[in-house]
Amino acid sequence: MRYLTIALSKGRLTDLSIELLEEAGIDCSELKKNTRKLILTDEKNRIRFFLAKPSDVPTYVEYGAADIGIVGRDTLLEEGRNLYEVLDLGFSACKMCVAGPKELDGNMDSLTITRVATKYPEIAKEYFRHKRRESVEIIKLNGSVELAPLVGLSEVIVDLVETGRTLKENGLVILDVIADISARMIVNRVSMKMESERISRIIKNLRSCIEKRNEMKAGINI
Ligand code: PRP
Repeated sequence: MRYLTIALSKGRLTDLSIELLEEAGIDCSELKKNTRKLILTDEKNRIRFFLAKPSDVPTYVEYGAADIGIVGRDTLLEEGRNLYEVLDLGFSACKMCVAGPKELDGNMDSLTITRVATKYPEIAKEYFRHKRRESVEIIKLNGSVELAPLVGLSEVIVDLVETGRTLKENGLVILDVIADISARMIVNRVSMKMESERISRIIKNLRSCIEKRNEMKAGINI
């Protein structure tokens, strides 16, 4: 039996992805070892894993170098790759938002925005050019995007908001929500056909873990 290859996103999503895969019966012990090896395996299930930069995960999956990937929906929207998004894994939930200074709250429609700073130029372009039909200059940054309106680089930003703490502590507010974001399972289009039985089983197991987690959450909230 050939190995199924799973590409995991390096960073925030790594530990949460491993936790869910283990709940679904996939042995990630090699992955959890502090090793410099790039490809790790679960021999029993004939699965191998590698960690990649989140924005590269959809690329590996589109080209079939990985059969399966785990990545944030933000990355999928930004990269626009040709693959199947099969499952909302439920963790790392946040929102892709337009944010800016408090003074703009409620005034966005009457305001002329000229510059938008973001780590997500494609998402920002789609939103401003196609949804709002505004011609704006998109400025690509690589982090600490909230700084841009504070120092006059742009009027607003497009960025992820999780707890809202970064915005609040910098006097910024959400002006519009573009999309709900969370971790997703993605599958290569050919693998989905060629390995449909094994991949469907993984999807089914993951789905039942997610349902159990949701039931537990609902139970706690009663
Ligand atoms: C992310 C995001 C926001 C912040 C939102 O940044 O880009 O800046 O987290 O989280 P909050 O709503 O809980 O405050 P990250 O920490 O990945 O760092 P970066 O700004 O350097 O990209």
